[in-house]
Amino acid sequence: MTGEVTTMYEPQTAPRPAYATGFTTLDSELELDSLPLQGSIPEWLNGTLVRNGPAKFEVGEQPLRHWFDGLAMLHKFSFGGGRVSYANRFLRSNAYREAERGRITYSEFATDPCRSLFKRAATLFRPTPTDNCNVNLTRLGDEYVAMTELPLPIAFDPETLDTIGVAFTAPGQHATAHPHHDPQRGELIAYVTHFGPRSEYRIFAQRDRTHQRRIASARVKEPSYMHSFALAERYAILVAFPLVVNPLRLATGARPFIENYEWKPEQGTLVLVFDREEGRLRSQHTAKPCFSFHHVNAFERDSELVIDMAAYDDASIIDSLYMDRVRSAPPSSHPRLLRYRVPLEGSDVGEEILSETYLELPRIDYTQRNGRPYRYVWGVGAHPDGDAPDFVDQLVKIDVESGETLSWFEPGCYPGEPVFVPSPKPDRAEDDGVLLSVVLDGRDARSYLLVLRADSLEELGRAGVPHHIPFGFHGQYFS
Ligand SMILES: [Fe+2]
Repeated sequence: MTGEVTTMYEPQTAPRPAYATGFTTLDSELELDSLPLQGSIPEWLNGTLVRNGPAKFEVGEQPLRHWFDGLAMLHKFSFGGGRVSYANRFLRSNAYREAERGRITYSEFATDPCRSLFKRAATLFRPTPTDNCNVNLTRLGDEYVAMTELPLPIAFDPETLDTIGVAFTAPGQHATAHPHHDPQRGELIAYVTHFGPRSEYRIFAQRDRTHQRRIASARVKEPSYMHSFALAERYAILVAFPLVVNPLRLATGARPFIENYEWKPEQGTLVLVFDREEGRLRSQHTAKPCFSFHHVNAFERDSELVIDMAAYDDASIIDSLYMDRVRSAPPSSHPRLLRYRVPLEGSDVGEEILSETYLELPRIDYTQRNGRPYRYVWGVGAHPDGDAPDFVDQLVKIDVESGETLSWFEPGCYPGEPVFVPSPKPDRAEDDGVLLSVVLDGRDARSYLLVLRADSLEELGRAGVPHHIPFGFHGQYFS
């Protein structure tokens, strides 16, 4: 991105790429007791994978303009006795119910209904934004919630996938769909940006629907667009990329949400380190300009903080994912594993690319390794022999110590985020477990659930779904 985020609709003159099926609407909702299975899955895999993602990309004749705007659908794969069952349901958000009536009523990431200036300002400065929670999901106390970047997570029933309703309201207007878990306190830790005359980043904890506490905050003049953050044992870290917004412009501008943000590389990337125990912003550091959606991990080592991300050179990836663009041409951005080393006493940030391998939608052995030293990250990648040099068509495993990389690739197939499920062995190795990934087979426009050994990326089995599953974002496994 060389300037502000812009929208460019281009006529589709070239044939559609094979992957484009992954960006088309799925209307059907199914419940299937048993999917046809090739190979086998481990007997110990006895739980449920729930995935979230956009599945409807138009409302009547009106397009939802960006991949991030599609209406949320939950997909559930349950494992038991060597079998796999499947169900899928749209999240019955207010945004979805309005869409059923043929209306786009709520402001999405890059799609805005026609609204008056007054209504626009009211939407941003009072918490009444979209509830289209299409990005991620998690457990909150005894409940399960779907999340997007706006501050109204929606609870759902993990058995039926029925929508229950708004679970809580985050204390700001732009939230993260990537909260962290604090197992000691039994809380979710998250951040939210509060826009206003005095904008600020707020780190907060949520224990259940009603128990919310503020941990720390920091004033900011032009807030950054951030999708996730890092949590070390003592510190919460915001990496504020130079994709920033003037809050007044957000309130009064005529553009959809993300198109108000501007790329200002001269500002560099700010690293804000919050001390969770002392409840304060501890230090702030400047690094080279870059952009990232996803942190991988962060931990304290030898008087410094190590912070790993899947990072892009700039924020042009956001432009690439407008539906008209991505359906006709693959993005040309290439995210890589970037490591910051931030001194706890001092200011200079060390920066190093750990691997040139394409890495997005990263997952780690979260329960054992988040906030601690770790060795392996899994994610989606782009194979050199695939359809396009920078379109996701393989799964990768990177050893962050040695840089060694393994991959899984099948021509014409497009895998999604690989969710790591640890084996139940006591004292297991970090990579002892399986990866679960929903793969679109572009050859027959159907998807399947792929089960790989997490250590070698060797295929164990796959379970076929009778329709395509549009490309989604994130999922979680519940045992
Ligand atoms: Fe994400």
